[in-house]
Parts: sequence; structure tokens; C-alpha cells
Amino acid sequence: MCGIVGYLGSSKACPILINGLLKLEYRGYDSAGISTIENNKIMCIKNKGRVKELQNIEEINSLNGSIGIAHTRWATHGKPSSINAHPHLDNSKTFSVVHNGIIENHRELRTFLNNAGYTFLSETDTEVIPNLIHYYYSKEASNEANRFVKSVKKAVQDLKGSYAIAVISSLEPDKIIVARKDSPLVIGVKNNDKYIASDIPAILEYTNNIYILDDGDIAELSSNQITFYDKNFNVVNKNIEVITWDAKSACKNGYEDYMLKEIYEQPTAIRETIGTILDDCKKCNFGNINITKDYLASLSRIYIIACGTAMHAGLAVKPIFERLTSIPVEVDVASEFRYRNPLIDEHTLIICISQSGETADTIAALKNSKLCGCKTIAISNVIGSSISREADFTLYTHAGPEIAVASTKAYTSQITILALLAIYFAEVLERHEDTIIQNLKEEILELPSKVSIILENTDLIKEFAKKIYKEKDLFFIGRSVDYATTMEASLKLKEISYIHSDAYQSGELKHGPIALIEDDVTVIGIITDKRLVDKSISNIQEVITRGAKTLIITNQEINNEIFPNIVHIPKVNPLLSPILSIIPLQLLAYYVSKEKGLDIDKPRNLAKSVTVE
Ligand code: M6R
Repeated sequence: MCGIVGYLGSSKACPILINGLLKLEYRGYDSAGISTIENNKIMCIKNKGRVKELQNIEEINSLNGSIGIAHTRWATHGKPSSINAHPHLDNSKTFSVVHNGIIENHRELRTFLNNAGYTFLSETDTEVIPNLIHYYYSKEASNEANRFVKSVKKAVQDLKGSYAIAVISSLEPDKIIVARKDSPLVIGVKNNDKYIASDIPAILEYTNNIYILDDGDIAELSSNQITFYDKNFNVVNKNIEVITWDAKSACKNGYEDYMLKEIYEQPTAIRETIGTILDDCKKCNFGNINITKDYLASLSRIYIIACGTAMHAGLAVKPIFERLTSIPVEVDVASEFRYRNPLIDEHTLIICISQSGETADTIAALKNSKLCGCKTIAISNVIGSSISREADFTLYTHAGPEIAVASTKAYTSQITILALLAIYFAEVLERHEDTIIQNLKEEILELPSKVSIILENTDLIKEFAKKIYKEKDLFFIGRSVDYATTMEASLKLKEISYIHSDAYQSGELKHGPIALIEDDVTVIGIITDKRLVDKSISNIQEVITRGAKTLIITNQEINNEIFPNIVHIPKVNPLLSPILSIIPLQLLAYYVSKEKGLDIDKPRNLAKSVTVE
């Protein structure tokens, strides 16, 4: 949940590190810090608050070293403060460490180090790491080859939990050692310059040539080489991955906020995602997943597992999978699924969705499922992400880097690729007439232009945002597939506007929640399924009768005179409507937050990827 950047090369490290941190703030932003080495001495500056505040510290400009590590933090152990901020140093100030993840046995390690004479300044789990490295370094003979990397190896062997670390030392001032387990880390290279990052966008401006570390890997970076070690400390070769995202895709590009930019990127994100699957003959190409008719026919159930918005994408595609494959689908929250011994076996297919591919609960759920004999498919937006390394098969959405904490384009891209997967399964199973499948494919190809139409007509949403931004509570209602959209719309509003909202199946209102409806309460209804229009309209009428003001998102004919605020979206097969109906509600959350003057891209208490439980 924190961000790591590192640099070793011929330029001054500090501006590169700050630049990288600014791009990583979406991963955590309650404190930030930098360590560089100058004249064989570690210089460390850190501060509570955002990277901008770190930048404003005068001494930052006097950091001249050309090797350094930096960190932006989302507090887990110890409150946000400059003492708890990373980098952390050992007692002798010869090792400096930045760390993402959680060291679960930090208490035992503290006791061990206390007994060995070490003391601690911070409340963090991380501070044990530089001291452990120092402990092992001082035990190695001074002429021992590779003393630094060996000490890091011994230290990480003692760690339980998850980590991505970068370490520098004034004793070996031309090296950075990095290591990872269950937390991502990549190394970028350009000529002799080397860049380290927990997330690719931090270094895209400098290079597209990336080494992705595997779990348990350690790497030693020096000016002329990188040596990779696997989890058994054998030297291994790694291939460079060329990342196709360009640096511009990780910038705001004229938009006020990343979230708005990403909302407007949805036509492209969906089009590109479709383009990787549907060829010119409208044939689904899922060549990389080895799924046979016999296997699909043997399935008793498909489980879709994810967290947050990605879980809502699962809810949105449950109907299309069930309709097209006749296989029952369950959608579950990863943090629940992983601990409740679900009834799964080789007749269960597990689909895990994760934009970042680094969400700890989702990865754990996937690993548990594999142990039960299930085949696993990961849907991720990040090439080489941890989940893609664990799953039997990975399908990538092509949404480009998603920086805003509130997920938008990843969500609609996830639904798109999953809808195509459902169609593919139906084709393999031969359970549906060709015309149904062909029609759905035609409709999927039209989605990008339909999203563009919605994005061109935002006046009513902006006006409605002005009417409701001071509210404390509101409600989203919908039936069937629209219920998934209400869940996502409610989450979007909560996380960036801090307004409490609930999502209900419209038919459930009468069973309790309607007691909360009184004068001027806002209820937002979504109606995209022709079969359910009358019933949904009755539910809206019921709340209007009790004084509610309403907004309706629909592609059906609804009388404007009775229902004042209607956002019309293009018609589409209801199985695909979640891709369209969420767009005005993403914009509503955005404009409500804007009215409130909040920091939309970095909402309080949240981080982009949740790599800890
Ligand atoms: O990277 P993931 O898709 O695994 O992330 C899952 C959730 O943490 C994420 O969707 C979260 O709910 C977003 N902030 C929603 O906007």
C-alpha cells in the first residue's frame, strides 16, 4: 500500500526519486522520505504529509548523491509521523531501508535485536530490517565476497509476512539491494541507469524496459550490472519485459484529476480490451487459456473472487455467465472466501479479478483455491503482477495505468473482458444459438461509442451533483443486473465524497430500508432491463410519495413529467448494461467530490492497492 522508488546512475538521484514518488502517491500518502549517499554517508530526509511537503524542505535540494531510495507511506504499524516515515536506518546509520508490506514477526525480531543491543526509534515493523541487516553484516568476515547482499539475504530469511525492500549502505555506497515477497517490485534499465519501483508508472518516464522480480528474488544493482538471485540464492538470468504503456498515459494530460481522465479514457480502454480478444471475423481468441468443452461441462460452479470494485465487476457479469453457460456462478469477497473453507474442488473454476494484481486477499484466495484442485483464471490490468504469476491463466484488461484510487476504467474493462469470456465459454460448450452470441458480440463492439455518447452529455449530472453535495446519506436502488451497478455507484460515492450511501435491490426497500425515506432524501434508481421497468418505476414512485428526490439512470422510455431527473443512456442488451449505466454515476461521484473541494485522486485513508490484509 506504500510506494517505493530507487535510482542508481549518472544523474542526481533526488529529482528522479521525488518525481517517482509523486507518481506513486496513489499508493499511500501520509508520509514520505528519501535516502541518498554522499561522501560515503547516508543522507536521510523524511516527513509527515504528502510528497509536496517533502519537496518543500529546503535541505532536499542539497541532496546531490546519484544513488538513492525513497518511499511514500500508507501507515499500518505506527501512526503517520516523520519518525515512522521511511526510509529507516539501523542504529549505526550505515544501512537505510524502504519497505512495502507487513513484517508479521516484527515483535519477536525486535526482542531478538534488543537482546543483541539494538534500540528502536519508531513504532514501525520496518525498523527491524536495517538493524537485522547490520547484525548479519557485522557477523560476516570483512573480506567476505558479496557481504552486503548476503546480509540482506540472511535478514529477509528471518522475516515473516510480506515485503518489497530496497536497501543502500554507506559501507558499499555504489550498490542497491532489493528483495521481494508478496509485494511487487520492478527494476527498470536504460543504458547504465537503473530505476526501482513498486509500480511501473513511477519510472515509465525514464524507461519501458523492465525486469519483474518474482517472489523470493533478491537483486544486487551496481553501476555496471544487476545480479539476480532466486529464492534459493542461486544466480539466475531474467528477461527484460518491454512495457507498452507510455509515459503520457501515466500523466493527467490536461485533466484536473486522474479520475476524470480515467473516466474519459473508458471508450479507449474498452476498445483496446475488446481488440485483444475479438478478431476481424468476430471470433473470440482466448488461445492462452486451455479450457476444453469437457472441462467446462464438468464444472458444478464458477466462483468469482475479488475485492471492492473488482468484486462488483464480478456481480455485474454473474448474469451473463449464468445465462450463457448454465453454470451457477457465485461471487464472493476475497477476504471472506479465503477464511471460510468454501466447498470447492476440481469441478470449481475460480476467476479472480484484480486491477493491480497485488491485492493480498485476492492472491491468498487464489492460492487456497489451487490447493483445493481448482483451475484458476486471473483478470488483471498489470502485466507481470503477482496474481498473474500465481494463476493458471491470466487475461489482461488493456485499460492502461489506473492512477486514481477510485477505480473506473479498470471496472468497465473487467466487465468487458469477462463478458467476452462468458461468450467464449458458451461457444466452447455449444450451449447457445449462434445468433445470440453474434448479437452480443455486435453489441460489445458498439460499447466504446455508446460510452462516448454518455460522456458527451454530462450537464444533468453536474447540476444534480450541485444539488446533493451537502447531503449526509443517500440511496441507490436497482433490480437484477442494475443492482451490481448500485453497489459500485455507492462505493464510488463513499470513497471520494465521504457521503454515506447504501445500495439496495429495489424490491428489498419495503422490507426495511424504506423506513429511512423522508422529505428530501435522495434516491438514485437504475433501470435498464425492459422486463423490470414497471416494477422498478413503482419502487421509485414509492420513495417519491415519501418525499424523496430522485435521479434515474435509464435506457427505457420513462415519463419525464412524473420523474424530473432522468439521465438517458444508450440502449443495450441488459446483460451488458452495467458497462454503460455506471458511467453517469462515476461522474456523479466525481462532481459531488469536486463540489466539496476534496482531493479526488487521493481520498482519505485509502490507497490504490491493498497489499496487506
Ligand atoms: O487492485 P484490485 O482490483 O484488486 O483492488 C481491489 C479494491 O481494492 C479496489 O477495487 C478498491 O475498492 C477501489 N478503491 C475502488 O474504487
